[in-house]
Amino acid sequence: MQQYLETAVRAARAAGAMQKERLWSEHDIEFKGEINLVTEVDKACEDLIVRTIRAEFPDHDILAEENDYAAVNSPCKWIIDPLDGTTNYAHGFPWFCVSIALEIEGIVQTGVVYHPMMGEMFIAIKGQGAFVNGRQLHVSSKGPLKNCLLATGFPYDRSWDNENNFNNFMNFQMTARAVRRFGAAALDLAYVAAGRLDGYWECKLKPWDVAAGQLLVSEAGGKVTNHDLEPFSVYDHRILATNGIIHQEMAGVLASKESRSALAD
Ligand code: IPD
Ligand code: CA
Ligand code: CA
Repeated sequence: MQQYLETAVRAARAAGAMQKERLWSEHDIEFKGEINLVTEVDKACEDLIVRTIRAEFPDHDILAEENDYAAVNSPCKWIIDPLDGTTNYAHGFPWFCVSIALEIEGIVQTGVVYHPMMGEMFIAIKGQGAFVNGRQLHVSSKGPLKNCLLATGFPYDRSWDNENNFNNFMNFQMTARAVRRFGAAALDLAYVAAGRLDGYWECKLKPWDVAAGQLLVSEAGGKVTNHDLEPFSVYDHRILATNGIIHQEMAGVLASKESRSALAD
């Protein structure tokens, strides 16, 4: 597993360096939908990461955000978000990261989240813990919810689809100490793992947003499920990741009448 992790770390560091170097230069921005942006840096980073991985593991599958890669039906699949936090990036707001995970036979075995502006490399190997720059990570020991700091995000189709997370956001604003919206899901998860956030939830995420981050949280002693408290799969669209202590309490808020009503419409 170590050799896979080393490749992921090398690829993430190179992509992160490119992101940092080009952050405040002019970007070539395209739209993938009405508000879902992509910059030339997202694409260049994905090329760089995929080339790095393929140079060493040419027989592995790749699932990445910006391109479709023909399946080779390997038991090993790399799940890559080359730049998580693109809206921030395109606006020159320095909060974004690289996320790379390796799934083997359907289970994420290792993952990295690299935050270039802070120089923090978050890594995890299943069963061996989670670390940032060599320091072991532990989730926080805070609770109940009223004493906790949470994060979330909102889907790109929030203005025309009812499952927009607004009711959940309002409910957590009323029940937690505070709720933040930073704009990079993988970093939100890394911060739960590091005990800097106590809980995080979101809906309509893609496997590349969460594959590495969810492993960081569970390897740091936290709990990750879907909103119905079922075991989390990276192909689930609704994630709940916490320090464990507030998991039930957060699930209760997500199950409240107002929150559920958005799903029914
Ligand atoms: C987005 C970010 C954001 C989350 C969105 C994601 P992108 O990823 O992680 O925090 O709220 O749902 O799509 O597009 O910046 O890679
Ligand atoms: Ca993303
Ligand atoms: Ca992305």
